[in-house]
Amino acid sequence: MSTQTLSLADRVAARPGDFRVLTGDRPTGPLHLGHYFGTLRNRVRLQRSGVELVVVVADYQVLTDRDVAERLGPTVDGLVLDYLAAGLDPARATIFTHSAVPALNQLVLPFLSLVSVPELQRNPTVKDEVAHSRQSSVSGLMFTYPVHQAADILFCKGNLVPVGQDQLPHVEVTRTVARRFNERYGPVFPVPEALLGAAPLLLGTDGTKMSKSRGNAIALAATPDETARLIRGARTDADRHITFDPDGRPGVAGLVQLAALCLDRDPHEVAAGIGDAGAAALKRTVTEAVNEFLAPMRARRAAYAQEPGLVREVLRAGNARANAIAEQTLEEVREAMGTRY
Ligand code: TRP
Repeated sequence: MSTQTLSLADRVAARPGDFRVLTGDRPTGPLHLGHYFGTLRNRVRLQRSGVELVVVVADYQVLTDRDVAERLGPTVDGLVLDYLAAGLDPARATIFTHSAVPALNQLVLPFLSLVSVPELQRNPTVKDEVAHSRQSSVSGLMFTYPVHQAADILFCKGNLVPVGQDQLPHVEVTRTVARRFNERYGPVFPVPEALLGAAPLLLGTDGTKMSKSRGNAIALAATPDETARLIRGARTDADRHITFDPDGRPGVAGLVQLAALCLDRDPHEVAAGIGDAGAAALKRTVTEAVNEFLAPMRARRAAYAQEPGLVREVLRAGNARANAIAEQTLEEVREAMGTRY
């Protein structure tokens, strides 16, 4: 079979060594099940299949919608613990913070020259974030962070970006930047591909997208009791017969989907199994499924948290490696642009 007829996932499975994955998260708070089923699980699978992983803790990107200074240290440490608990292996993956990698950030300047202001203003994910922003006025970083994200991906010549739906516009910006740079200055960058996670958008306990800021998210590191409380408070409806109908019954469907993902079963089957037993039975099923699913991750996280200095050592090693890669790429960029003096 020619490579054209193979899906991206098949090509990755056939030749894992051809791919370098760049992905990451903003350190805004604990990772939750939406992150896990959206991308984390996928990252761990890719790592196990032999793909090289580079993971950015996007500590500058956090600043897009902040009006005040915030100490990110504890949030960053918690994020790294979540990564380790979920199965990212720092011996194989490079986990770094982009504020620690000057050469990566320097790429943003030439990259910005390759995109127009209307292109920045059209980005649907940015538009959505602007619409939900609590800032009195929108920061310049808000409109330019997708270009910064292109630097996150391209500094290490990442060619595969496993993402959720909302990140697709950013991968598109990255592809545009890579193409235009190569056209203008000569071939330096791969044009990366987005690998969409298999999981559908995960709904939170109120039937809308699971998100920390909506207070509807189940953190990976939550205790079993906190998990139970959150699920008990979930929004359902008056119909005792449980079905999986995401459009008609988003609240109930969100819960059914959570149980189905944690049990690795079909959501219609999970709903049928509960049948006429009603929302209380559904919530019991979901709570048990989630807590059982997360138990090993929570145990690993607690063990890692006990090891003094572990997280900082992971970041120190990751940052050193990311810096070496970024400096090499920046040298190639200088060479291509004729700015080596
Ligand atoms: N924008 C991503 C988020 O909000 C985080 C991120 C930063 C990222 N740089 C990236 C994701 C590069 C993928 C690739 O979660």
